[in-house]
Amino acid sequence: MTAQIIDGTAIAQAIQDEVAAGVVELERDYGIVPGLATVLVGDNPASQTYVRMKQRRCGEVGIHSVGVELPKDASQEQVEARVRELDADPALHGILVQLPLPSHLDESGVLSAIDLQKDVDGFHPINIGRLAMKGRDPLFAPATPSGVIELLDRIGIEISGKEAVVLGRSNIVGLPVSMLLLKRNATLTICHSRSRDLANIVRRADILVAAVGRTEMVRGDWVKPGAVVIDVGINQVDDPTRKRGYRLVGDVAFDEVKEVASWITPVPGGVGPMTIAMLLKNTLTAAKRTVHKP
Ligand code: GUN
Repeated sequence: MTAQIIDGTAIAQAIQDEVAAGVVELERDYGIVPGLATVLVGDNPASQTYVRMKQRRCGEVGIHSVGVELPKDASQEQVEARVRELDADPALHGILVQLPLPSHLDESGVLSAIDLQKDVDGFHPINIGRLAMKGRDPLFAPATPSGVIELLDRIGIEISGKEAVVLGRSNIVGLPVSMLLLKRNATLTICHSRSRDLANIVRRADILVAAVGRTEMVRGDWVKPGAVVIDVGINQVDDPTRKRGYRLVGDVAFDEVKEVASWITPVPGGVGPMTIAMLLKNTLTAAKRTVHKP
């Protein structure tokens, strides 16, 4: 079997077009322009790039974006105070604190300072807690995990009752995507770098989400024939033939696994483009929710 390739770029573009149409409607009907604040602490180059991409994509769909930059030695109090100022600004419907924060800062404290209604990244401890509880729903779910579920939905994969295996347990992807799969009634297994006999655990999956950050760890013989494979890994591999000196590869050995799976995401062009699309969607949702308030 050769897998069908899941075109995350096209699906993300479709979502972005839907968001752009929603932004036009919201302004036409209620005079509200959705606004997103990005908060970047320090000068981590990857974070700078991500924040720039988020701001550019906001511009493409008509979302107003405000970039807040704080020095790498900013204190806990300074960062939290800046976040609270953004909480109080009615023109801003979403606040995103780019992670990771410099190591002297308490991430949980900073994320807790975000107004729950504006937590479009879904990382506020209360939103994560609601995500983890049966019968409760977060106001927003984190963008990359939501993007994984959206990809499955848009290619028509039923999740309920399936064996889902998540490889990785990070706060940003592994844990929240697991909770989302559980909410959709998957039979869930979470495994990670310390799990014994990983290949046999992964081989149970009807739906495999690889988010472990190890280059091409998942081999062809780890995958059940016909499985749906979602590769969240973004790993840099030296490649002198490329202008920038490296190329990006996932956590899945694509060429091997595509011969076994029924569907597979490429890297790049799979899950990656979905992250910002889902952030834009959450920001539009946050702005729409303000309409019904007194
Ligand atoms: N760092 C890596 N991924 C993310 C994300 O989705 N949101 C934020 N805020 N920081 C990140």
